[in-house]
Amino acid sequence: MTDISETARTLTTPPKGVFAADESPKSADKRLASYGIKTGIEMRYKERDMFLSTPGIEAYLSGVILHEETLNQTCALETVPCPTLLLSSGILPGIKVDQGTEPMSESPKELITKGLLGLSKRLHDYKATHNTAFTKWRAVITIEGNVLPSATAIVENAKRLAMYARCAQEAGMVPIVEPEVLYTGTHSIFRSKEVITEVLQTVMRALDEHGVDKTATIVKSSMTMSGKDSRRVDTPEEVAAHTLEAFLHAVPQDIPGIIFLSGGQDDDQATDNLRAIAKLAKEKNVPWNLTFSYSRALQDDALKAWGGKDENVPAAREAFLARLTKVSAAAVGT
Ligand code: G3H
Repeated sequence: MTDISETARTLTTPPKGVFAADESPKSADKRLASYGIKTGIEMRYKERDMFLSTPGIEAYLSGVILHEETLNQTCALETVPCPTLLLSSGILPGIKVDQGTEPMSESPKELITKGLLGLSKRLHDYKATHNTAFTKWRAVITIEGNVLPSATAIVENAKRLAMYARCAQEAGMVPIVEPEVLYTGTHSIFRSKEVITEVLQTVMRALDEHGVDKTATIVKSSMTMSGKDSRRVDTPEEVAAHTLEAFLHAVPQDIPGIIFLSGGQDDDQATDNLRAIAKLAKEKNVPWNLTFSYSRALQDDALKAWGGKDENVPAAREAFLARLTKVSAAAVGT
């Protein structure tokens, strides 16, 4: 087993999980605005610092995915570079390396992820300058009835995920490959399972074709669920059964771990679904580690408590720790 395979196992071993704090400045501002908080670099800095300098998070987090903006910032009242602060408490810093999405020319309702140009150099620089241990690339897959996703979107996104993963491993870092199948839409849980299965199978093939070491690769996935606009709310047991069925069809046992995004589920829903998945995974004795890698579902309570005010930081940190406690317990099925 290589060193980075070991890192991939460490990152995905519950009860710890990976905090996705890697929103682009634009998405971070949109998020702040939705809580009535002022936007801009200063508020984004305060927000990141509030989360990343929370004492005690190392009990729940194996890693944090950062955006380049945060990688270059200092935390803990501007005393320590953020990645150094994380490393000092045993949390591995990671970096999101894709450069967002654009409409596909062949199928303009679908998105393709950018960022391969100059990627190798960026990866080597991140590793050398900030000691990053892992990386993330997010592809976005849209479901629309039986029409989307198109085969072209699935194959092209899978190819780019694999090319990125190869570059990340060559630079000595663990790649997280994230084909996010969107939760928006009116589709059924069965359609969601069908698409997630096909997408993951295509990604696994692409990893093999590009010589990626699967033992040193983490898969980040959506859960299988009825679309948000279907007006159907699946039970956690349904989500668990269909999600594991998809993974068992598509993900080989040499992948060390699968981590979940929350995808716009509310925080309790994302916690309850994870708990049901972890319970069923134990019963089925699945071959991979399973844990969380949430962004929104970890931040919601804390952002409400903070409201952008310095005097609310202690309450926001308490809310963040309370949510981490629940999600991390859910990751072991309790
Ligand atoms: O790419 C998506 C993030 O890594 C996870 O975000 O939990 O808010 O869906 P989310």
